[in-house]
Amino acid sequence: MANVTVIGAQWGDEGKGKIVDWLASRADVVVRFQGGHNAGHTLVVGDKTYKLSLLPSGIVTGTLSLIGNGVVLDPWALREEIERIEGQGVSISPANFGIADNCPLILPLHRELDGMREAAAGKGKIGTTGRGIGPAYEDKVGRRAIRVCDLAHLDELEPQLDRLCAHHDALRAGFGEEPVDRAALLEELRGIAPFVQQYAQPVWKRLNERKKAGDRILFEGAQGVLLDVDHGTYPFVTSSNTVSGTVASGSGLGPGSAGFVLGIVKAYTTRVGSGPFPTELEDEVGQKLGERGHEFGTVTARKRRCGWFDATLVRQTCAISGVTGIALTKIDVLDGFETIRICTGYTLDGEPIDYLPANAQEQARCVPVYEEMDGWEGTTVGARSWAELPAQAIKYIRRIEELIECPVASVSTSPEREDTILVRDPFAD
Ligand code: IMP
Repeated sequence: MANVTVIGAQWGDEGKGKIVDWLASRADVVVRFQGGHNAGHTLVVGDKTYKLSLLPSGIVTGTLSLIGNGVVLDPWALREEIERIEGQGVSISPANFGIADNCPLILPLHRELDGMREAAAGKGKIGTTGRGIGPAYEDKVGRRAIRVCDLAHLDELEPQLDRLCAHHDALRAGFGEEPVDRAALLEELRGIAPFVQQYAQPVWKRLNERKKAGDRILFEGAQGVLLDVDHGTYPFVTSSNTVSGTVASGSGLGPGSAGFVLGIVKAYTTRVGSGPFPTELEDEVGQKLGERGHEFGTVTARKRRCGWFDATLVRQTCAISGVTGIALTKIDVLDGFETIRICTGYTLDGEPIDYLPANAQEQARCVPVYEEMDGWEGTTVGARSWAELPAQAIKYIRRIEELIECPVASVSTSPEREDTILVRDPFAD
């Protein structure tokens, strides 16, 4: 297959950075197709560590990197990120970076609204990243958004600003806040417009040309399927579609373009923010997973909630996203556990159920059914072949494959790029 789509198959933070970095070094184009700077990818290349939020991972290796229309773009955050990454010696120019001209903008008013809502929600808060992602997507589907292409026509922005501000002023009044300062907003847009415009282009067209030329395209997903606005643990989700199907609508290539769908799956489960999490461990085992796995958010530095591997959830996300194979990450974090549990299903009000239901209250009442396995002695750290893994670790991986009904394409055994057991190369398929 010429193309590869990488998505998170749990609640995000599955360790996409390392896999995407490896695939990006072999792709001709890397495309972000959803989300925004709520994402956080850490790339370790040689002795340098790059922290990316909005820029596609290909940027670090000079691969053509494109932001598709499915992304919501905070232009000020982008400028800050570009300056920071350029400061690390990476060259970023219109030759290797482009932004879809039909991409909606995240404005300061979106970030403010995100904050007001979360503060007012108290215990019912979503636990967002506070980046204005949700409010920006709302304005997109509400047909009020200001988009990248509008930055070339700021003198004609009056009617759009009227519509946008009328909506936001009403909301802000409800929170007891001042109306939007329109003059200041327009001034800020004038200030940032030339910077964004140099990269603006019809990304759908560029991608179709590259596809015709036979280029290998890597679609870089952000977050995870359980945070998908349709298929995730709604309402405790992000506001975009994180499933593989979004590559088509979020980039402007047809539905057949996803290619090999690689689902990134952590060998246990984590989640940041609020919402149901059936296998969560609020005891010393959860604590140990968090400490050993360095489970702190890249974007917000929040402590991640940790729990056992939930095969029921991953079977569901692999099915929903048409996952071809999974990349299993962080198996080494389970080294030294005497026993390991895998969730194989739930009981809901005493009845067995083999999937996570859609209703949030029912999700919260799902009680995991566990299968227990012996852990392994010795270490998986740095293994690069099956032969280097303890037999019991192989048994754990094989059981996961069986339960999620999807084959393992690779197993990652440390943060180092080379510490990977490659079973199936997604680009070679
Ligand atoms: P938002 O995307 O900022 O609106 O946040 C909505 C939910 O998605 C919250 O629970 C966040 O913690 C979660 N979330 C957003 N982006 C990421 C990510 O990149 N990794 C993990 N969780 C995320």
